[in-house]
Amino acid sequence: MNYEIKCFECGSMIHDGFLDSCPRCGGLLTIDMDLGEMEGKDPRELRQRPMGVWRYAPFLPVEERNAISLLEGGTPLYDCRALGKEIGVKRLHVKYEGANPTGSFKDRGMTVGVSRAVELGCKVVGCASTGNTSASLAAYAAKAGLGCVVLLPSGKVALGKLAQAMFYGAKVISVDGNFDEALSVVRELAKEGHLYLLNSINPFRPEGQKSVAFEIVDQLDFEVPDVIALPVGNAANIWAVYKALTEWMSVGWIDRMPRLIGVQATGSNPITAAFRLERKDFEAVEHPETVATAIRIGNPASGKKALKAIYDTDGCATDVTDEEILSAQKLLGRREGVGVEPASAASVAGVLKLRAEGEISGSDQVVCICTGNLLKDPDTVIKNAGEVLRSEASAAAVKRLIGG
Ligand SMILES: Cc1ncc(COP(=O)(O)O)c(C=O)c1O
Ligand SMILES: [Zn+2]
Repeated sequence: MNYEIKCFECGSMIHDGFLDSCPRCGGLLTIDMDLGEMEGKDPRELRQRPMGVWRYAPFLPVEERNAISLLEGGTPLYDCRALGKEIGVKRLHVKYEGANPTGSFKDRGMTVGVSRAVELGCKVVGCASTGNTSASLAAYAAKAGLGCVVLLPSGKVALGKLAQAMFYGAKVISVDGNFDEALSVVRELAKEGHLYLLNSINPFRPEGQKSVAFEIVDQLDFEVPDVIALPVGNAANIWAVYKALTEWMSVGWIDRMPRLIGVQATGSNPITAAFRLERKDFEAVEHPETVATAIRIGNPASGKKALKAIYDTDGCATDVTDEEILSAQKLLGRREGVGVEPASAASVAGVLKLRAEGEISGSDQVVCICTGNLLKDPDTVIKNAGEVLRSEASAAAVKRLIGG
């Protein structure tokens, strides 16, 4: 396994493994994998290995023998016929990332990122987070025996995620500011050498996150869907999906790209706003707000990468209101028995909207990536799921309540 770390923007080679941006132009970093050995190989050979992130080890920039793993990935791809019918698309699948060890897709990036931290000999890892990154990092740091510091925007992190970060033993710091401000602080701490940064601007994180796209194609028996829709927050995941599929194109394992569709909340939509103006860069939203706290990010660190992923695949970006998000969340639960957190439901809400607008056709094969588990945010569920009926402890009283 050979790779190079490069600047995504000016192409400079990066030799210092601790940098999180280009010393020449300040640009984002990315990893170029040398995949020559995989060319012409039969992709189905990988199926001799168990499902999960490390099935795709030849496409990852960390030696598998060094992996810090909680057996992440290998999540279900649900065939959602009832929901597809409701939305008006013939084939709709939901990739259920809530089934990961800490309940979100972040575990895919974290197994690679924390393994890299160990390879580099780091002792303390850290991140800023809207919640899921901190939950995941705390768990993988515990597994690796590393110290862990997480910075969370005060009062805006869903309860389940906060509980997780505290439970796994991270030093949890609530910052008076939003995610974007917390990220600047933790970047400064990383620069001064106090911790190894494991936000998704660390290019090893998206490398692990590529595996969600590998799995989707693998689970569809190497058929490429027409559309993959996913929520966009700090914007690395859509880039990871794009990068994965370009790598499989380059070794001849697939012969076309799906359209990638990034979905944001209307109160937190810098990428969508840039897409509408056909721009390659975006302007930050200063005070992002949405019920989908996981994607309450106004200044997405990987925004430029996300826009490239969208333009290169003839995809699009759209935004959905909080009402649309909560209604899609409920629809997915009640039609399919799949429970996802609000940010994850944005992908379904986006597909509903784009189908109604004709941007997605009824004959398209669509995959929605639902990034996090319902139980991450129990408060929002309870607020929006209707009421609990109360009864005295007698069959007669309960019968009155259930009727018929
Ligand atoms: C549940 C969930 N969905 C989506 C996202 C957005 O992913 P990205 O920041 O890679 O765009 C996040 C990020 O925190 C998340 O926690
Ligand atoms: Zn550069």
